[in-house]
Amino acid sequence: MAGSGGPGGGAGGGQGAGAGPGAALRAPRAPLLLAALVLGAYCLCALPGRCPRAPRAPAPAPAPAAPPRAARGPGAPVLPVASGPGRRRFPQALIVGVKKGGTRALLEFLRLHPDVRALGSEPHFFDRWYERGLAWYRSLMPRTLDGQITIEKTPSYFVTLEAPPRIHSMSPDTKLIVVVRDPVTRAISDYAQTLSKTPGLPSFRALAFRHGLGPVDTAWSAVRIGLYAQHLDNWLRYFPLSRFLFVSGERLVSDPAGEVGRVQDFLGLKRVVTDKHFYFNATKGFPCLKKAQGSGRPRCLGKSKGRPHPRVPEAVVQRLRAFYQPFNRKFYQMIGQDFGWD
Ligand code: A3P
Repeated sequence: MAGSGGPGGGAGGGQGAGAGPGAALRAPRAPLLLAALVLGAYCLCALPGRCPRAPRAPAPAPAPAAPPRAARGPGAPVLPVASGPGRRRFPQALIVGVKKGGTRALLEFLRLHPDVRALGSEPHFFDRWYERGLAWYRSLMPRTLDGQITIEKTPSYFVTLEAPPRIHSMSPDTKLIVVVRDPVTRAISDYAQTLSKTPGLPSFRALAFRHGLGPVDTAWSAVRIGLYAQHLDNWLRYFPLSRFLFVSGERLVSDPAGEVGRVQDFLGLKRVVTDKHFYFNATKGFPCLKKAQGSGRPRCLGKSKGRPHPRVPEAVVQRLRAFYQPFNRKFYQMIGQDFGWD
């Protein structure tokens, strides 16, 4: 299959031993005739409107085993790609957000399902690496058998204006999963992550309010990401609400099996991941897996998931809570689901 129609298929016959300077002159006519025919057909095809149109999501050439080294730029994902049977397909479902909502937990839980194959790293294709093209994107995906679902998660998609039209042009049928969490706790979690990498960062209060006291600073990404209604507005210009599933970040902690059950239903999968896959780890303070995928041993998520949060004064929390309230209400209204954050 891979060899049929490939550019190497016809060329091989004309090359070989004896291709010295005089070889072309001595060559029999048949290969020359063949080359002329191939060239003619190519030129004809290159004229506008002469060839069949490319499909919307181009079916790229057989994907390389790994992204070509030359195609990698600084910071581009270098992702492990599984080999084996099946083929690489575009994801049918994406976990598009939100950052610090519990997206890693959801992905790791879903991976327990035999009909789910997920990319381990965040490819950031629809926000950072789009110019690399769909063929490159697909080459990152794990192989799947018929009936298996390919998933990837990149939480920044939810707040990227260009992501919805780009995903739509890959496939308007893509299922979109958004893990949402109380925007105030989410903002503090986001801040805790930045603080862990940037000691000496100004206080949460100093960043959340303009001049530390003024109005809420919506230019700060930790605040802006929590304006779920605004981000969703942009997505709804391209996708109907029925394409979305909103997962509660809070319930993913208090009832992981219940929440993953909803996700399995949404993906049209049998409920294989259930209560029996989880246990509550008191040291970690979070649900963990009884048997991790691959190792079969108990596993909790890493240290960067479930970090202690810095103490934020209650007055600051209250002000932020009041700020988010109208946005939360609008969000509940838009999706017909109340998360009870207020
Ligand atoms: P905190 O570190 O603030 O507690 P994401 O993976 O989207 O970055 O989300 C990280 C958050 O996932 C964590 O935020 C944590 O609260 C939440 N989470 C949900 N289920 C978890 C689990 N089983 N183990 C660890 N963290 C979990």
